[in-house]
Amino acid sequence: MKRCVPLCAVAALLRCSPTSAEVASYLDKHDQLRHLREDFLVPKIADLPPSDLTLVDGSAECIYLVGNSLGLQPKKARKYLEEELDKWAKTGVHGHTEGSRPWAWAENNIEELMAKVVGAKAEEVALMNGLTVNLHLLMLSFYKPTAARHKILLEHKAFPSDHYAVESQIRLRGFDPQQSMLLVSPRQGEHTLRTEDILETIEKEGDAVAVVMLSGVQYYTGQLFDMAAIAEAGHRKGCYVGFDCAHAAGNVELKLHDWGVDFACWCSYKYLNSGAGGLAGAFIHEKHRDDIRPALLGWWGHDLKTRFQMTNVLELQPGVSGFRLSNQPILLVCPLQASLEVFNKTSMRALRRKSLLLTGYLEYLIQHYYTEDPTQPLKPHVRILTPSDPQQRGCQLSLSFSIPIRKVFQELEKRGVACDMREPSVLRIAPVPLYNTFGDVHRFVETLGSALAASQSQQ
Ligand SMILES: *Cc1c(COP(=O)(O)O)cnc(C)c1O
Ligand SMILES: *[C@@H]1O[C@H](CO)[C@@H](O)[C@H](O)[C@H]1NC(C)=O
Repeated sequence: MKRCVPLCAVAALLRCSPTSAEVASYLDKHDQLRHLREDFLVPKIADLPPSDLTLVDGSAECIYLVGNSLGLQPKKARKYLEEELDKWAKTGVHGHTEGSRPWAWAENNIEELMAKVVGAKAEEVALMNGLTVNLHLLMLSFYKPTAARHKILLEHKAFPSDHYAVESQIRLRGFDPQQSMLLVSPRQGEHTLRTEDILETIEKEGDAVAVVMLSGVQYYTGQLFDMAAIAEAGHRKGCYVGFDCAHAAGNVELKLHDWGVDFACWCSYKYLNSGAGGLAGAFIHEKHRDDIRPALLGWWGHDLKTRFQMTNVLELQPGVSGFRLSNQPILLVCPLQASLEVFNKTSMRALRRKSLLLTGYLEYLIQHYYTEDPTQPLKPHVRILTPSDPQQRGCQLSLSFSIPIRKVFQELEKRGVACDMREPSVLRIAPVPLYNTFGDVHRFVETLGSALAASQSQQ
């Protein structure tokens, strides 16, 4: 078995097997971030569907491994929302300027916290709109195709919304997606992209590429791209380089500023725990403070100091702040603030350190129990689609099963596991370092064993 350090050392110390639950307890006891879980509400098994079928104690916390889809609720979210609802009830319009969270500039107070999480300066970040909206707003300014340079480079299997956004931006500019979408695919028989192949495509075709637009972490495979190298390669060829960090923000260490990334956007309801449809993020590097202007304007792009004088003479804020259109939804600011304050109790570096260990533990256990065994051809096995190099992945592992997954998934749900299924055969499992434990991972792999057995016996 590969990568048994430090699991084997712990197992030796405890005189047990590396697969023993004692190892998980030990790692949890020595986890310096374990208190952060206390800041979140973990659903109880009995409250999850299918409520009538559970085979386990319903009053226990579920094994929540789907923070890549929707992060858990921070406990402070309700308190902050109630504060603003009370303020609205008691003071009405005065809430715009009064209280600890004046609505008229509420998002400004948390942009510094957000910037820290993505490795940016506060003035390079705006919290506004939804992710796809921000992607469009950014592309309207960064994608200015010419006859010679009209392509957008993206993944062959980008998230659908990104694919559609790129397609429609190309049409909007009078170009043909067939000619102008440059899709990069994994090699035959491979599931993830090789960095060398991305860099080579940029090197070969970069002269015709206006924008390189990849994800930071691939939503399906969990692959973490080498954003620094991609940005450098793109810039060498005169392309703008943007990243959709939906699955990267709050998951891996980002250095958007230091890497010189031109623009980025992300949602906040996945690893950033702001609740469904939460306020999204946008980043424009400070080097574009003066040379990139918003294509569309609204009053929230006007300098705050004179915004409410209503002169109709725009004093545009520089950089990404000028891209704001509407006044901000305070009810979306509240849960995001609650979550970012938890991030502010630690650092992405510390979270990442735990994450490498936590996901490495999941990988170890999966490989221990489910690698292909030629002596037992009928035993289900699991292939990990996510790169095995920890530097090329975030916390998520995408597991591909040798059998149809629906039945197994249902058996997992009955046993209190919340995770994500992609038919026909993939489970995406995301142990989130902010609130998941080594015990969660151990319980999951144990539960997977009984779920597989139950689904087999019913066939
Ligand atoms: C989650 C996700 C989206 C969702 O877009 P919304 O505008 O927030 O609905 C888009 N792109 C990627 C890469 C995602 O991971
Ligand atoms: C963030 O953390 C720092 C200490 O690391 C603290 O001084 C600051 O007040 C925190 N900010 C918020 C908004 O919680």
